[in-house]
Amino acid sequence: MRIDHPGLCGVPASGLHVAVIMDGNGRWASNRGWPRLVGHRKGAERVRELVAACPDLGIRYLTLYAFSTENWKRSTEEVMGLMSLFARYIKREAARMNHEGVRMRVIGDRTRLDAKLIGLIDWIERETAGNDRVHLTVAMNYGGRNEIARATGAIARDVAAGKIRAEEISDALVSRYLDTAVLPDPDLVVRTSGETRVSNFLLWQAAYAEYVFTPVLWPDFTPQTMQTILDAFAARERRFGGVVA
Ligand code: FPP
Repeated sequence: MRIDHPGLCGVPASGLHVAVIMDGNGRWASNRGWPRLVGHRKGAERVRELVAACPDLGIRYLTLYAFSTENWKRSTEEVMGLMSLFARYIKREAARMNHEGVRMRVIGDRTRLDAKLIGLIDWIERETAGNDRVHLTVAMNYGGRNEIARATGAIARDVAAGKIRAEEISDALVSRYLDTAVLPDPDLVVRTSGETRVSNFLLWQAAYAEYVFTPVLWPDFTPQTMQTILDAFAARERRFGGVVA
């Protein structure tokens, strides 16, 4: 099954970039009287399904908000559980990602992550570096403001070192200092679970993105849910601040 989006205006030749704020794992589990981590585990299964469906859905870049800079406030049990879920996902999915042509990257401030997890992230990024069919980017210990602050610091250091001149700082230059430097900007940002906040996700990159908020909780989100959202997105008109002739 291949889904085309003939009505999509402004989707770059590099391919559709969809970013997802995966929300509602905790509620999904609580609604069933189960521990929150069960919801996260189900959520990881949904990630695997969606990644596999990306080529059929016409998604070349998929960026997922897995752990925010604010998520450290959760219980130690939940934080540790999420970290081991990420590690397990990387180890278990490596072969499948290579088989499906998935290149995995991680964005966010990884310095605060456990050394073993950092090692695994470095490994999976190298291991899948030759793949180009689907670009999966996972945001871990990610915050848009934190990313912009880190980029600003790096720019300031390069100006001080004489590598760039202050007059050269432009939108394009700032983009090159972000964690997402090699990725196109997202065309569409989806948030699940009925919340209608942006929650510090891709603040710079999503300047012209379309937003879709769906009441579906992430553990119930299937490739078919994404297809319905993409159909609605295809019907929208993107003007990037201009006018349509
Ligand atoms: C938000 O739902 C979800 C998270 C903070 C974790 C997202 C993680 C996964 C989907 C696990 C697997 C991810 C990868 C990339 C392997 P919430 O717990 O805040 O839900 P709630 O608002 O109902 O409490």
